[in-house]
Amino acid sequence: MKAVLCKEYGPIAALAVEDIEPETMQPGHVRIAVEACGVNFPDTLIVKGKYQFRPPPPFSPGGEVAGRVVEVADDVHAVKTGQRVMAVMIFGGYREEVVVPATNVIPLAATMDSTTAAGFMVTYGTSIHALVQRGRLEQGETLLVLGAAGGVGLAAVELGKALGAHVIAAASSNEKLAIAHEHGADEGINYRTEDLAARVKELTRKNGADVIYDPVGGAATTEALRSIAWRGRLLVVGFASGEIPAIPANRLLLKGCEASGVFWGNFIQREPDENRRNVERLFSMHASGVLKPLISETFPLADASVALNRLERREAIGKLVLLTQAAD
Ligand SMILES: NC(=O)c1ccc[n+]([C@@H]2O[C@H](COP(=O)([O-])OP(=O)(O)OC[C@H]3O[C@@H](n4cnc5c(N)ncnc54)[C@H](OP(=O)(O)O)[C@@H]3O)[C@@H](O)[C@H]2O)c1
Repeated sequence: MKAVLCKEYGPIAALAVEDIEPETMQPGHVRIAVEACGVNFPDTLIVKGKYQFRPPPPFSPGGEVAGRVVEVADDVHAVKTGQRVMAVMIFGGYREEVVVPATNVIPLAATMDSTTAAGFMVTYGTSIHALVQRGRLEQGETLLVLGAAGGVGLAAVELGKALGAHVIAAASSNEKLAIAHEHGADEGINYRTEDLAARVKELTRKNGADVIYDPVGGAATTEALRSIAWRGRLLVVGFASGEIPAIPANRLLLKGCEASGVFWGNFIQREPDENRRNVERLFSMHASGVLKPLISETFPLADASVALNRLERREAIGKLVLLTQAAD
């Protein structure tokens, strides 16, 4: 089977595409013939050895896949051969076939195709956990989303709207803001050309943003925090800018506000029941048309590095998905 391999930590260009032997089956596991793999920003970090997890090379990047179950271990009863599923993992997804714990596998509704499924769980799972469990977003509150046309950002825009918030999208181009508007944003701020904090205050009649969803980090975090409302919640989701900001504690004091970390990967391990409820809610919102995941581009598995470069160069909009031969 074909696999995208990171043979040593380094640049994305060094990724290899090779034929490798199928993995051996293990108790409690399921083998999936992969049709589609979601591409996420953490995939760009893991190949460079800059992610929280540093798997020993060689390994495949890739945190989510969708496809069909082709084999189940004898002790697995919840998943059946032939079933259409999605699966989440920390790495290992950019392959024609994966062997994953049955507990990581989620059966797919007939209403969701594999391409959509492969790009769904990481972004919407992270964003619903951020907004509901960490941000306690209330109907009628103002939500500011940074990087609003990126993977997790666009999911946060849609979910924020679905939860009844007034959504302000912030992004680096008018093209990206137009996409955020199409997905439900009420207002847009181009933080390359406009003063982010001043515009948020203007749009909220000086109240500020109740919840700030921040997957960008760096200067954008400090700038956004200047516009937080009294008792606001800053959601620390990621650092796509490459810079981990130092959060000024005086601002937390002055605004009676809080900064909350969001780590979806740990949440699903530590709070599986709460996560299951989130997943059911997401599937139901998708089936009823409330969520409209944007897969802006697909690539053959062999072009994984092209897709990863798009993310690195800040060019990706919504989600990018890799397709295998099985998707044809
Ligand atoms: N906490 C969690 O559990 C969790 C889960 C998934 C992902 N994440 C993190 O969330 C962040 C976004 O992930 P994603 O998959 O949504 O990525 P993405 O699709 O590439 O979106 C990232 C956005 O960040 C903005 N950005 C600002 N500076 C950038 C730079 N130098 N390079 C690239 N993008 C830059 C871009 O928007 P503008 O051009 O509009 O600024 C871009 O759309 C990453 O840091 C990722 O590690 C966290």
